[in-house]
Amino acid sequence: MLHQIAIDDLHEMVDALSAALDAKNSYMCGHSERVAELALRLATHMGLSSAEQNRIHIGAHLHDIGKIGIPDAILNKQGKLTEEEFAIIRQHPAIGDNIVGKLRVFHSVADIVRHHHERFDGKGYPDGLRGHDISLGARIVAVADAFDAMTSARAYRKAFTLEQAITETRRCQGTQFDPEIVAVLVDLAAKTTLVDHEPSSAVKALA
Ligand SMILES: [Fe+2]
Ligand SMILES: [Fe+2]
Repeated sequence: MLHQIAIDDLHEMVDALSAALDAKNSYMCGHSERVAELALRLATHMGLSSAEQNRIHIGAHLHDIGKIGIPDAILNKQGKLTEEEFAIIRQHPAIGDNIVGKLRVFHSVADIVRHHHERFDGKGYPDGLRGHDISLGARIVAVADAFDAMTSARAYRKAFTLEQAITETRRCQGTQFDPEIVAVLVDLAAKTTLVDHEPSSAVKALA
């Protein structure tokens, strides 16, 4: 469906939707956009078709759109979340799937929204899919999403350095992440500038 509407118009729509989400909770400010940018760069680096690159880019922009349905008191809570609150947060991929499902133009990115918290080992949510049963787009966005969370500061911790984030992502390959996508991220980090960090010799050595 993505070809039936100009990609620029579609991009404008998803920008507006992500701005609505950013306005709701400040710690996420710019998160969707950064994840969309990184997911696109991973897809491009993998040599995927331009149609697939666009699909992954748009899906990445919308990945957390379901957080609109999560109460602010939980999303913006400073302290530790209770099990019950975590359970509510874990509903956001399904809520997002329901939101994008209302628009035919977004049907082709619903898998990314619904499955961006699945894990490669099958222990993720909401459906516990494993390995390549998780769509390629969702596997790419899962890596981009976690990498952006690590390299962004939180109220309770400083941002990881590029090396720390790469080390942590590699540690989780095969369990949380698809090792193939992690390898693409490491290669990208070694050859280009990611999140305002110049590639360090330590990261170059990992590629
Ligand atoms: Fe999410
Ligand atoms: Fe996210």
